[in-house]
Amino acid sequence: MEKLIFPVDFLWGSSTASYQVEGAAHEGGRGECIWDTFSRKPGAVYAGENGNVACDQYHRYEEDIALMAELGLKSYRFSIAWPRIIPAGKGKVNPEGVAFYRRLCEELHRKGISACATLYHWDLPQTLEDAGGWPDRSILGAFEEYVKVCYKELGDLIDMWITINEPLCVAFLGHLHGVHAPGHRDLQKTLATVHHVNMAHGIAVKEYRKTGLKAPIGITWNPTTPRPAVNSDADKKAAEIARAMNTEIFMFPVLGKGYPKLLAQETNYTVPIKDGDLEIIAQPIDFIGINYYHESPAAADEDAPFKFSMKPSWQETTAMGWPITPGGFERQLEWIAEVSRGAFGKAEIPIYITENGCACDDTVTADGKIHDRQRIEYLYQHLAACANVIKKGVPLKGYYVWSLLDNFEWAFGYTKRFGIIYVDFKTMKRTPKDSAYFLRDTIAGYGEL
Ligand code: FCB
Repeated sequence: MEKLIFPVDFLWGSSTASYQVEGAAHEGGRGECIWDTFSRKPGAVYAGENGNVACDQYHRYEEDIALMAELGLKSYRFSIAWPRIIPAGKGKVNPEGVAFYRRLCEELHRKGISACATLYHWDLPQTLEDAGGWPDRSILGAFEEYVKVCYKELGDLIDMWITINEPLCVAFLGHLHGVHAPGHRDLQKTLATVHHVNMAHGIAVKEYRKTGLKAPIGITWNPTTPRPAVNSDADKKAAEIARAMNTEIFMFPVLGKGYPKLLAQETNYTVPIKDGDLEIIAQPIDFIGINYYHESPAAADEDAPFKFSMKPSWQETTAMGWPITPGGFERQLEWIAEVSRGAFGKAEIPIYITENGCACDDTVTADGKIHDRQRIEYLYQHLAACANVIKKGVPLKGYYVWSLLDNFEWAFGYTKRFGIIYVDFKTMKRTPKDSAYFLRDTIAGYGEL
C-alpha cells in the first residue's frame, strides 16, 4: 500500500484525559468530581468500575513520558482535573494539584514533548453539580475563576490550550441520554448545557487573551456529519438536520455564525440566550480540534422525534461496534475547512485531530506482545485520509492518537481498550502494542503496511 507522507512540521501526539488515566482520586487534595459520584450509581458504569486508580498516571507519569519519547511523539494532550486545581469548584486553590501538572509539563519538556492541556474533559467538581451544574448559568463564574487559575499557575508551561472537550457529549450524553455523568435525562437541561458550554468556551478564550500568554488556544469538537443513506432529497435533509443538531449547534456560534437556523425550523430547540452572549462565544480561536471515530448514514424517519434516524453501515466494526469509515473522516475534514474558512477574518483556521483511534479486543499473546492488526489498519486508513485532505488544501496541522494508554472508557469501564500501549490493570505494567510501533514508524517517515 501507498506510503503515508506528512509535512515535516506535522505535530504528532497522543491524547488522554484526567479522569481516564490519572487515578489518585482521593490523593493530593483532589476534590470529588461528577464521575466519582456517577460511577457509584448502581448500573451506571460497567461492573461498577471507576477512575479511582485508572492507569495511575498521577504516580507513573515519568514512565509514560519516557514511552512517548521512545515512540517519537512530539506532543501530549492531557486534561487538567478541575477538582485537583480547585477542589470545591470555587475558592481555595490546591497547591498540590498545581504542582502535579507543573511536574508533568516539566518532564514532558525535558523529553522534548510539548504540553497540550484541555481545561475541561468532563470531571466537573461535584459541589458545582450540586449547585445546578452546567444547566445553571452560575457555572460560568466558576469556570472563569478556574481557567484564570490555570493560566496563572500553569501558563508558562502549556504549549497549546483546549477549552472544552466534546461539548456534544457534555450536553447530550450527560444531560439528555443520562449515560455519562451527571446522568440527567432532561431536554431543557440539555439545551441550557449546550449554551453554557459554548459560553464557557468563549469566556475561557476571552480571559486567556487578557493574560498576554502566546500559546495557541482552541476547542475540541466531535462533529457528526453523516452521509445521507439514500441519494434522495428526504435523506439529504435528514443528514442536514442531524448535522445541525449535533454539530452546528456547537460549531457555528463559536465561528461567529450564530445558532443554526435549521434548529429553529425543524425542532423546538431554543437555548437560554441573553443579549451579548453570541459575541462572547465567538472569540477568535487559533485552531480547531477534531475528534473523529466513525460515521453513520442518516435517513428521514417520520416516527423519530426529529424526523431522522441513523442507519446501519456495512463496514467492519471495532470493539465499540463502530463502523470503520475513513471516507467519512475525509468528507468531514473538507466540510470543516469549508465552514471555517474566513472566520474571524482569517483566511483559514488550522485544524488538529485531537483524537482518533479504535478499541480492539487486545490480548497479550504467548510472545508477550499485542498484535493489534485491526488498530494498525484503522490508523493507516485514517492517517491516509489525513494525508489526502492535506493534499486537497485542508489546513490540517497535527494528529493525536486516542489513546496513549488503555484507560477508563467512561460507562464501559476498563472493557474497551483504546491504547496504543497495553495496560495490565492488575500490575499497571505498560506494553506497547504493535500499533505503537506502527505509529513510531509513521512519525519517522515509514508509514507503510
Ligand atoms: C471520546 C472522548 C474520549 C474517549 C474517546 C473514546 O468521545 O473524548 O475521552 O473516551 O471518545
